[in-house]
Amino acid sequence: PSLRKHLQPFLGVNFTHKVPQTIIIGVRKGGTRALLEMLNIHPDVVVAKAEVHFFDWDENYRKGFAWYRAQMPASLPSQVTVEKTPGYFTSAKAPDRIYSMNSSTRLLLIVRDPAERVISDYTQVLYNRKERHKAYEPVEDILVRNGKLNSRYKAVQRSLYDVHLAAWLERFPLHQIHIVDGDLLIADPLSELQRVESFLRLPPRIQPSNFYFNQTKGFYCLQSAGRERCLDQSKGRPHPAVNGTVLAQLCRYFRAHNTNFFRMVGRTFRWCL
Ligand code: A3P
Repeated sequence: PSLRKHLQPFLGVNFTHKVPQTIIIGVRKGGTRALLEMLNIHPDVVVAKAEVHFFDWDENYRKGFAWYRAQMPASLPSQVTVEKTPGYFTSAKAPDRIYSMNSSTRLLLIVRDPAERVISDYTQVLYNRKERHKAYEPVEDILVRNGKLNSRYKAVQRSLYDVHLAAWLERFPLHQIHIVDGDLLIADPLSELQRVESFLRLPPRIQPSNFYFNQTKGFYCLQSAGRERCLDQSKGRPHPAVNGTVLAQLCRYFRAHNTNFFRMVGRTFRWCL
């Protein structure tokens, strides 16, 4: 089945482009790329490799569903098409727009410790600025202003999972949103992928042999269709050491939001200990 999947663009028969039945909506830096690539191991899944930004960018949304469909890979009728755009989770327009395309779309949301996510988000921007030889501020200076936590920092806002999820729950019932534990996806990808297979009602096809731990990268890498590969170097970057007092301040700020999120999704995560 996996060979057929890789040959399908060349076979051309019975293949169509479908809008996704499943969308990874975020969260940015939660492990969205890893989740998409891992799900792509499944023979009944096809994925859009690039982030499509259809529902969050007006200039793309205006191009219409035919354009959106054309961004998707060819698939067999039995296959599930998946796209991921982490910007959807924090977009005010995305929930309504996805709902009006197909109210039964299944959503995948991958979350990780919100404080860790802030540092990851900062690290991404830091690397981009360093590459372009631009000035950058230490994370502590951005996070704390006049002794108070700078809650207006975008990376902090993006980690308010309860606030963003509330907008999705106005449209979609919780049973249509599967929460993936991004910290667990790092430590034990197979168990998280098996839960996703079951949520998507896919036959269990992802195996222990599809993952191997790469000491150099410090993360699990993938093995499928006779190929081994790790995610690129922009995934799994070392984070700067952050002052403990600032981290504690960040955790304190997230505490009530986290508790609210746990209540909304009916489960808890070991965050900000
Ligand atoms: P860091 O680079 O901060 O470690 P996204 O794809 O949503 O931008 O998420 C990036 C994060 O995916 C990385 O953040 C990393 O921790 C996480 N990740 C999860 N599984 C991974 C894997 N197998 N290889 C590399 N990164 C992985």
